[in-house]
Amino acid sequence: LNTDRPIGIFDSGVGGLTVVSHIQKKLPFENLIYFGDTARVPYGTKAPETIKKFSLEIANFLVEKDVKCIIIACNSASAHAIHHIRKHYPNIPIYGMIESGADFTLSQTKSNFVGVIGTTATIRSRAYQIHLERINKNINVSSFACPLFVPFVEEGLYESDLIDPVIDHYFADLNTEDIDSLILGCTHYPFLYNKINEYFNGEVTLIDSGEAAANYVKEHLKEFEESKKDREPFYHCYLTSATNKFFSIAENCMIKPFDEIHYVDID
Ligand code: DGL
Repeated sequence: LNTDRPIGIFDSGVGGLTVVSHIQKKLPFENLIYFGDTARVPYGTKAPETIKKFSLEIANFLVEKDVKCIIIACNSASAHAIHHIRKHYPNIPIYGMIESGADFTLSQTKSNFVGVIGTTATIRSRAYQIHLERINKNINVSSFACPLFVPFVEEGLYESDLIDPVIDHYFADLNTEDIDSLILGCTHYPFLYNKINEYFNGEVTLIDSGEAAANYVKEHLKEFEESKKDREPFYHCYLTSATNKFFSIAENCMIKPFDEIHYVDID
C-alpha cells in the first residue's frame, strides 16, 4: 500500500472530528480526508436502511478519492452499515466504532456493570450489547438513547448550562452505583465529556469509543505499513452542506486545522 494514500473518515456531522483529533495525535503523519454529511445529519434518528444507503454513498465517494482505509467515525453507521460497506469493498480495511469500544470497555470494567449511551439507531441495534456479551458472558449492560445530545453538540452548545437538564433527564433512571464504566457510544458525545463526568462526580469511567477506535487503527496500520515520518500531512474536509458551527467546533477540537474545504453533493 502506498503510504501517501489518505485515511478516509466519515460521520454525519461534527462528531467524527473527535475521532480525527485522536488520529491526528496518534498518527501525526497520516493524510486525512474527512467527510461530514452535514446536509443529512442526524443519522441516529433515521431508519437502518437509510443509514446504510447514506453510509455506502459516502464510502463510494471516499474510495473514489483513493483512501487506503475507511474509519466509520459514527456509531450509528458502524452499527448498521459496516457489513454492507465491507461487502462492497472487501479489499479496503473498514474500521468501525463498536468492537474496539466494547473491547476497551471490557479491559476497563472491574464490576462488569457497564452503561452504553448512543443514538436511538445505535441503541436499537444492540450492537454494543451483542459484542460485550459475546466476549464476556458475565457482563451486565444498561443502555439508553440520548437523542437530544447530537443537536446540542451540532449547535456548539456542549459547554452551555442548557445541556444540564437534558443530562439530568436522560440519566435520572440510571443508578450510578450500578455501573463503573459508561460507553460514549456516539462520536458526538466526547464533546460532553466534562459535563457527563461532572454529573457522575468523576466516579464512572467514561469510554470514548473514538479514542478506542483510533488506538485500534494505529495498531492495525502498523501491521502493513509504516507512516512516512517527518511529512506534513494534508487534512481535507468534504461537507454536503455549509453549516454555521462546523468550523468553530473543528477549531476547538482538532490538533491542526483542515487545509482544504469542499462542498459536495453525493445523493
Ligand atoms: N456521531 C454519530 C454517531 O456516533 C451520529 C449522530 C447522528 O447523526 O445522529 O452515532
